[in-house]
Amino acid sequence: MGVTITGWGTALPDKVITNADLEARLDTSDEWITERSGIRERRIGDSCAELAIGAGRAALARAGVAPADIDLLALATTTPDQSVPATSAHVAFELGLTCGAFDLNAACSGFVYSLVAASGMVGGHVGRVLLIGAERLSRITDWEDRSTAVLFGDGAGAVVLEAVDGPGDLLAWDLGADGSLRPILYADLHGYITMNGREVFRRAVRAMVDSAQATLERAGVSAAEVTLLVPHQANIRIIEAATQRLGIPMERTAVVLHRTGNTSSASIPLALADAAESGRLSPGDLVLLCGFGAGMTWASALVRWSAAA
Ligand code: COA
Repeated sequence: MGVTITGWGTALPDKVITNADLEARLDTSDEWITERSGIRERRIGDSCAELAIGAGRAALARAGVAPADIDLLALATTTPDQSVPATSAHVAFELGLTCGAFDLNAACSGFVYSLVAASGMVGGHVGRVLLIGAERLSRITDWEDRSTAVLFGDGAGAVVLEAVDGPGDLLAWDLGADGSLRPILYADLHGYITMNGREVFRRAVRAMVDSAQATLERAGVSAAEVTLLVPHQANIRIIEAATQRLGIPMERTAVVLHRTGNTSSASIPLALADAAESGRLSPGDLVLLCGFGAGMTWASALVRWSAAA
């Protein structure tokens, strides 16, 4: 059996922090942040579970699926609310799910990792999966550190996956991890995000391009056939460099980071849902999801869009 995406939803905290707000409290400027990252504002607040519940509920409504009909919950997050238990247990309870639920941490690649993992579990008694990427990065951001505080935000995005006969709409994927690169981006337990920005930038472009190309090759699809690239929303310059190398123009790339900042596991489903909501996707379209993150991890997946506009 394969899977298809039948619903999507998002949740963002109410509190908006603009570049001007950061300018007022840090040695930075709107011009620097916009030029170097493309980010203009981000939203912060709510717990990881609250955001995940909001996005999950919206995705269930959009798919027209009752909580009782969900057979598995996968929550991608790098900022769970507690070490134990998994945040997915809280989310499952609040949504009224009674199925198995697990958290997955692959940093900013987490949503695509979860998509691949959950798709492999579909079949038998698992017919519908709720897949959520949710983050409260503001909890592990040092708001006095201008090199990271300007980049991150909170949010959540979700999709409903349903089993279909035949190969389904996940056409190919690529997952990777290189733990030798742990020191360039990490947060210790109870600590803040520490990052070598230049090194992450350099590695990120290469990882995205290589992973996306591996996925396209496995699917036998060319970059020209991709309707929409949905990249991890970390930095507009990383996205521009990757799209240039992949030969996919920015007009065919989903971008929401100017208003969300980098929301890690939530960024790809936020951008995907935005594209679906704004009518950029039609049945038959080929969508290339592509992420990278701490670890370093990378992940890409080629999905055929089947949901009606
Ligand atoms: N405002 C103003 N100046 C800042 C600043 C800020 N918020 N943050 C850093 N600077 C300064 C630096 O101190 C440095 O000053 P110096 O030249 O006097 O030493 C200067 O700006 C340039 O810093 P640099 O780190 O070389 O800038 P950059 O062009 O590499 O851009 C990032 C910095 C962080 C925006 C960029 O490296 C990046 O986006 N990296 C990837 C980060 C990422 O995506 N992380 C998440 C991965 S999932």
